[in-house]
Amino acid sequence: MSKILVTGGTGYIGSHTVVELFNAGYTPIIVDNLSNSNIEILSQIERIIGIRPEFHQFDLCDENKTREFIQSQPEISGLIHFAASKAVGESVADPLKYYYNNFFSLINLLNAYREAPINFVFSSSCTVYGEPDTLPVTESAPVKKATSPYGNTKQIAEEILSETAAAYSNYNIIALRYFNPVGAHSSALIGELPNGVPQNLLPFITQTAIGKREKLTVFGNDYDTPDGSCIRDYIHVVDLAKAHVAAIKLLEKGNPNGKYDVFNVGTGNGYSVLEAIAAFEKASGQKLNYTFGPRREGDIIKVWGDVSKSSTQLNWSAELGIDEMMSSAWAWEKYLEENPII
Ligand code: NAD
Ligand code: WQD
Repeated sequence: MSKILVTGGTGYIGSHTVVELFNAGYTPIIVDNLSNSNIEILSQIERIIGIRPEFHQFDLCDENKTREFIQSQPEISGLIHFAASKAVGESVADPLKYYYNNFFSLINLLNAYREAPINFVFSSSCTVYGEPDTLPVTESAPVKKATSPYGNTKQIAEEILSETAAAYSNYNIIALRYFNPVGAHSSALIGELPNGVPQNLLPFITQTAIGKREKLTVFGNDYDTPDGSCIRDYIHVVDLAKAHVAAIKLLEKGNPNGKYDVFNVGTGNGYSVLEAIAAFEKASGQKLNYTFGPRREGDIIKVWGDVSKSSTQLNWSAELGIDEMMSSAWAWEKYLEENPII
């Protein structure tokens, strides 16, 4: 079975992708420095797939360790690079941490593969679009000036990857631009493990519903949207994980679009914050305590993806709807209440 390296594989999206790679007949190998995840996730993955994935703990910013590891693993035919720092607010407060971590890890991986051919899937983000001029946003929409160092690391990483694919013959690269990943595996054994106070909407909703947080503040209800709250394209993390399997398969087959390609990974549907709250209340049966507060600096008003390219060329489409996103997120929060992993 083809060995696929999953960097950041004990993290939120990486752990779900390890499961889906295994289900698709691949052998996933995880590298993670556990800077934003927990070793317990390995046991949780084992409970889902029945085997404990091969795991190597080190920092991908360590050039020698990364090169030595890659040289010791000649059977790896593809890799999915999730490992990065991803908190927008933290990146504004500590930009050097973000530029260091997100660029050195990427460049060390690329340099470790200067000779051997490699299928390389990269975690990008719809954040590169900023506030799109037209919706739904397509992959050919202009990349706009990032509004945070984190967003800048994704934009520059895409440029690094595009130029690398053009300059060297051995890289076959796909960047997946995620919209808003939410939810958890149906087993409720893996899910999002926010560090401290959640920055993202869904974990804040579920922690409020379970009583860990007193109330949710909706950041602004005076936007130019039908109900005044911001609109996002929420995608179930399991659908997102499956998109990575599809990307590996496309690279193995040979991507007719060339050595570097980009795909939107979303549902193509936009939900407002208030609609997301209503969907959570319906799916969970829990009334949510929320209030309205001021707008959050840097928030995009509305963004949702045109996912037709992913459907026709990546041979992937999201299958799970908002109800499953919300019910799985709630099941995971209840599991964590009974089984604190962190
Ligand atoms: P996460 O923090 O849960 O997972 C990232 C993992 O990478 C963690 O386990 C962390 O320990 C590891 N890691 C970080 N730096 C490392 C390093 N130098 N060496 C080794 N391991 C390292 O984040 P996530 O939500 O799973 O996101 C995964 C990827 O997807 C990131 O690149 C992120 O920017 C991108 N992304 C996430 C979202 C989202 O909303 N979650 C949206 C768009 C894009
Ligand atoms: C969604 C909506 C908030 C929390 C961020 C990053 C992006 C990507 C995904 C990494 C917004 C509102 C939120 C709360 C709220 N991460 N909200 N109260 O901002 O779309 O994207 O995470 O790649 O790069 O920017 O996601 O979940 O933070 O917010 O009202 O307590 O929920 O204003 O409208 P966002 P989010």
